[in-house]
Amino acid sequence: MGLRARIIIVVVVASSIINLFLCFYFIAQIRELELKSLRDKINKTTHMMKLVNARPLYNVDKETLKINMETFFDDENMKHISIHEADIDVNIQFARKFDPNAMDIEKSFYISYKGLNLGKMRVVYSTSLIEKKLAKFRSQMLVFTFGVILAMVVILGFVINRLMAPITRLAVAASDIAAGNLERQIPKGGTGEVGILARNFASMQDAVKEKINDLALTNKHLKNQIQQKEMNEKKILHQSRIIFSVNTFFQKSMMAASRQEVAELFIPIALAVIDSRYCFVGEVDKANPERMHILAISRQALADCALTDMEKELRLKGTCITGIRARIIRENIGVIANNPAVHPDIGHMPDAHIPLENFMGIPMRVGSETNGIVAFSGKNEGYDEGDKEAAQILTMALTEALNLKRQEEEKLRLEEMMIQSEKMVSLGSLAAGMAHEINNPLAGILQNTQVIQNRLKNRLPANLAAARELALDLDRMTAYMEKRDIFKMTDAILTAGRRAAAIVSNMLSFSRKSSSGFVHEDLEMLLDQTLELAKSDYNLKKRFDFKKIRIERDYMPGLPKVSCKASEIQQVFFNILSNGAQAMMSDPMNQDPCFFLRLFMQHDMVSVQIQDNGPGMNAAQRKRIFEPFFTTKSVGEGTGLGLAVSYFIITENHKGRIQVASSPGQGSCFTINLPV
Ligand SMILES: Nc1ncnc2c1ncn2[C@@H]1O[C@H](COP(=O)(O)OP(=O)(O)OP(=O)(O)O)[C@@H](O)[C@H]1O
Ligand SMILES: [Mg+2]
Repeated sequence: MGLRARIIIVVVVASSIINLFLCFYFIAQIRELELKSLRDKINKTTHMMKLVNARPLYNVDKETLKINMETFFDDENMKHISIHEADIDVNIQFARKFDPNAMDIEKSFYISYKGLNLGKMRVVYSTSLIEKKLAKFRSQMLVFTFGVILAMVVILGFVINRLMAPITRLAVAASDIAAGNLERQIPKGGTGEVGILARNFASMQDAVKEKINDLALTNKHLKNQIQQKEMNEKKILHQSRIIFSVNTFFQKSMMAASRQEVAELFIPIALAVIDSRYCFVGEVDKANPERMHILAISRQALADCALTDMEKELRLKGTCITGIRARIIRENIGVIANNPAVHPDIGHMPDAHIPLENFMGIPMRVGSETNGIVAFSGKNEGYDEGDKEAAQILTMALTEALNLKRQEEEKLRLEEMMIQSEKMVSLGSLAAGMAHEINNPLAGILQNTQVIQNRLKNRLPANLAAARELALDLDRMTAYMEKRDIFKMTDAILTAGRRAAAIVSNMLSFSRKSSSGFVHEDLEMLLDQTLELAKSDYNLKKRFDFKKIRIERDYMPGLPKVSCKASEIQQVFFNILSNGAQAMMSDPMNQDPCFFLRLFMQHDMVSVQIQDNGPGMNAAQRKRIFEPFFTTKSVGEGTGLGLAVSYFIITENHKGRIQVASSPGQGSCFTINLPV
């Protein structure tokens, strides 16, 4: 119930009670007065009656008595009047009817005259008229009072309304504010306490607003701090995961046998951290910086591209650095492409490329140069800066591990090379020394065998003269020799001797160092000529058909000419090509024998690479192939001198380098470096 209604009710109830009380109090007072005046009147009237009726009664003047009685009975309050005197037969009485509930005042007295009691009178007055008057007065009073109260209520209502209006407005505003609308304007009007209340309320509202704003700010600040803390915690967790992965990777990479194995170990670890489907590690070809080799690639990527194994191998061995890869490598920046379809650096994809929904590439940096790329693809929700950071850390670890492995391999290679060259020098000088020693007796054997044949077979004048002197029949002797196969034997001595002489000549070349006959030659032309020679060489043709071998050429244009002896370099190429052809043909499972021939510049040397996809060699074989007389071929098929001769031609005669990279099942790759 509102304040207004309550005030009105209180006022109405209070004034009604007071009015009723006053009304009844005054009416009671009036009644008392009325009754008192009635009694006084009765007393006076009875006195009058005693006086007026005494004489007529004494005179038994009934007429006068009656007139007197009627006159007295005119009094409207009188209910009953009677005079009675049995002796004179006077019995006059008048009566009126009144409300039986009203009070009666009765008086009986004797009329006396001259000391005689003449008759008895009885008067009864009723208060009924007084009561009626009072009742009427009461009703009028009540009507008036309640009329006044009603008027008061109306006036009061109006006044209260006027007085309460600012409070009401304040109350509505307060309700709005309480409901949360702090921007609600507080009506500042009103005078007196209401005005003060409104103003205080407005300042209170401002203070509350300020406090709430402060609280909101503090809340926001706290929320930010909590968010920051959560983010930091997540970051720390993520980073510790990365560090753990890097640690695991380093530990595993120590056990890896090659750089390729290091990269292969890296892929699953990186995929677990970055949560991607595909990943590859690509390295810029040192010899040809326009191309990149895929050092390792995730299994899923190989499974999801529809290429034959051979095509996959070709793509992995070397692809041109273009598009987004080029940008990452040339500009040395990590790139995220979550929408490859519209990325400016991602152009046309090669056929059967894996589906590229998103891509992230990180450059592999060694010092100031970028020598490769680690790329990820196929993350469900795309890549973000956090992934990039993680990938950069992982890539750094990979680059470091690859570098360490490279240094390790380089060291091993250098050690191997040193051992190899020392071994070759001592073996070479031993073989050359032996060849020198064998050369003279061998020459003696060959010469003397030829002389024997000349003196036995041919009818030379000196032979004829000696036979004649001894009476020897030359024809019969010749027939004997033929019968006993002596000529065949001397022929065999000559063939074996010539073969030995060829070997000796090869062995002598180990120590032959002459700079004569050096001409500037085009290695591309020499290599192609040797290939043609090998194709048409009868001895080679006998064993295998060179035409079945596919040739892939990759010659860097504009290479400088190299000062060399063409015949010797051709011999080296020939030895390597015939070895490779033999090796590839020895494997009946090899359906697509192929030579990869490459020519490129490496520092100040021209490099020639001859690679085959034959069975390859194990480490023990690989370490010995340049040794003179090392062969895995059956007796008579190979002397084991081909690579030994090649080695000395390159290292001793041309001051170059010859190396081999090979492992079982992976083919062999010979690299010859010749100074320009
Ligand atoms: N491309 C190759 N693939 C596999 N093994 C090879 C390859 N080239 C050389 N070899 C191995 O190296 C050995 C030595 O080769 P080298 O040319 O010195 O002698 P050879 O070929 O056995 O005999 P020759 O060349 O005198 O006929 C070979 O017997 C073979 O085992
Ligand atoms: Mg050979």
